Amino acid sequence: MGNKEKHHRNSFSGSIGFVLAAAGSAVGLGNIWRFPYLAAKDGGGLFLVIYLILAVTFGFTLLTTEIAIGRKTKQSPLTAYGKIHKKFGFLGVLACLVPVIIMPYYSVIGGWVVKYFLAFLTGDGLQAAEDGYFTGFITGQWEPLILMILFLGAVAFIIYRGVEKGIESFSKVLMPVLFLLVIGIAVFTLTISYTDESGVTRNGLQGLKIYVIPDVENLTVKSFFSTLLDAMGQLFFSLSVAMGIMIAYGSYVKDEDNLVKSINQIEIFDTMVAFLAGVMIIPAVYTFMGREGMAASGPSLMFISLPKVFSAMGRIGNLIGCLFFAMVLFAALTSAVSIMEAVVSSFMDRFHMSRARATLLEGAIALVGGIVVCLGYNKWYFEVKLPNGAVAQILDIMDYISNNCLMPLVAIGTCVLIGWIAKPKTIIDEVEKSGCKFGRRKLYIVMIKYITPVLLLILLLKSLGILTMI
Ligand code: ALA
Repeated sequence: MGNKEKHHRNSFSGSIGFVLAAAGSAVGLGNIWRFPYLAAKDGGGLFLVIYLILAVTFGFTLLTTEIAIGRKTKQSPLTAYGKIHKKFGFLGVLACLVPVIIMPYYSVIGGWVVKYFLAFLTGDGLQAAEDGYFTGFITGQWEPLILMILFLGAVAFIIYRGVEKGIESFSKVLMPVLFLLVIGIAVFTLTISYTDESGVTRNGLQGLKIYVIPDVENLTVKSFFSTLLDAMGQLFFSLSVAMGIMIAYGSYVKDEDNLVKSINQIEIFDTMVAFLAGVMIIPAVYTFMGREGMAASGPSLMFISLPKVFSAMGRIGNLIGCLFFAMVLFAALTSAVSIMEAVVSSFMDRFHMSRARATLLEGAIALVGGIVVCLGYNKWYFEVKLPNGAVAQILDIMDYISNNCLMPLVAIGTCVLIGWIAKPKTIIDEVEKSGCKFGRRKLYIVMIKYITPVLLLILLLKSLGILTMI
């Protein structure tokens, strides 16, 4: 890149482009495979209510802070924190480390989604429902690797094209299609009904009731806190905060854009898709597999339970499965793009690299990491017990380090920096710069100074296995 270009920062063409790109980042695998599972585990409606309250308080606080830091400093995460306060440059390093760790395993999972999309597209969906199909595939030597490279290559290509021509233009196409697919599949799910071998008939509407009606009968103080922390952990990942992404995207927002409006739209989009993912998945799994089927989480929910559900739907199942995995693929792609951009933009700002070079470098890092993750299911398979009690392989260890340890740490650091050192006014002034009114101003100040860091600390201590009461 020439010197002249170096000083000219890329930007989104306008607020619609920004909102769709940021919503594309937020709506990802987290919404589709973790949100419905947590909602089912944590008493349906109760989780939804707590999540909603946290989204407009806790999530709003972190999202606003990061986008405003990005726009104010016009820097990516690695260098932005140091610009707000010199002593906080280390936070930029941590915030940049998170997407470096996430990118490889997100690409591996992206490869898995490609595999299932192709299986359903070519009419092989029934096979995907067979026992052992998923394990057979991920433990294979070449296929997971090749598909990971394909997914990573597509992401790198979009990033290489730049902010407006790559990230924005792809999001503008993929996000509306994704939204239509989510709504279409969710509506379809509510119309299904199934009679199992023992003659019991269940339908989608009954499943919907389980999803949305709070189960307060079994509520205890302990289960309430556990639901609260589950919802908080989920919000982080889902809103793409504490991983540098929203700072990078914020740095591409024009000074005259209305941040308040954009942030509200991003939150609504992300929460709506997460809710609808539950409407798509929970009633379907309940109808075909009963309550026991709803215990599956993460990869096993998406790659083992759902193919069985699609197969039980009969002939239409293959089409629904194909549309479902196309939707997941779009969600994973737009999120992976944002994860990679957080790193690429950091390399560009810190080391004055061209976009092409930075993409190549981050692509190579993710490739090596992705190969290690794939080998973790194959030649390098092992199991360890994590401090939070989970049994993990390489992918889970990376997920644990980034999500459970580094992300709360980055977010706590951000709260300390903005709440106590630089002061909330820094963010409020940035948001109001374009003439819009910061509606939840008082709430923001209380959240960033007191409530958010305390909640985050509890979350971190629990993840580290130090706090075991909750
Ligand atoms: N926010 C993205 C997701 O939910 C990273 O997957």
